[in-house]
Amino acid sequence: MSRTIIALDFSNKEQVLEFLRQFDEPVYVKIGMELTYACGLDIVKEVKNMGHKIFLDLKLHDIPNTVKGGMKNLAKLGVDIVNCHCAGGIEMMKAAKQGILEGTPEGQQPAKLIGVTVLTSTSKESMNEELGIPGEVIDTVIHYAKNAKEAGLDGVVCSVHEAKAIHEACGDDFLTVTPGIRLAGNSVDDQKRVATPEFAKEQGCDMIVVGRSITKSEDPKATYKAIEEVME
Ligand code: C5P
Repeated sequence: MSRTIIALDFSNKEQVLEFLRQFDEPVYVKIGMELTYACGLDIVKEVKNMGHKIFLDLKLHDIPNTVKGGMKNLAKLGVDIVNCHCAGGIEMMKAAKQGILEGTPEGQQPAKLIGVTVLTSTSKESMNEELGIPGEVIDTVIHYAKNAKEAGLDGVVCSVHEAKAIHEACGDDFLTVTPGIRLAGNSVDDQKRVATPEFAKEQGCDMIVVGRSITKSEDPKATYKAIEEVME
């Protein structure tokens, strides 16, 4: 299974199709809010019908019953990974899982469910002062990851720098999916804490999410293949 997930951060369907045409074999892609809200869930079906694997990154966060209903409908799409915010609590995460199990068509593998811990855009200051959560970010990340595991989730989205501690706390088979990846020499863009694929591999990250380092590269296919070789 591919361990590199390409973030399809495009604003319309034509750009997505043009980008994917370069690949002659199925790849793992991430479809987020931007594309989904622009094109609707039809884009998910279309990319899936092309044979690609999909991480549908919609980060659900609401009362348990609503999240369960939402997940039940997402599960019908047959995507491979979906997610919700750990901040919604254990009951909400359990409801998300239940929704997936109820919505998955018979005979199909249920999507993996991963929890978003603390967003990498949240600093210690904003976590302490705005969100009112005391302590270090890593402690909240570990606390959320343990809650996710207790709720029956398959893993979490976290920063490369947190993957090792999460595996120590939750076990090696608990998935760590990590964005914020840059190749040596690439521009950092708006990301704050970046890491190379080599470092991600060293830290035991199970899957990495790579956007601009692939989509904006001169040869996206060659860059993707080079990253995959590191992660194998
Ligand atoms: O272009 P780049 O590689 O920075 O894209 C990273 C992708 O991962 C984007 O789709 C971004 O929204 C997502 N992401 C992130 N940091 C998080 C969660 C998701 O960069 N903590």
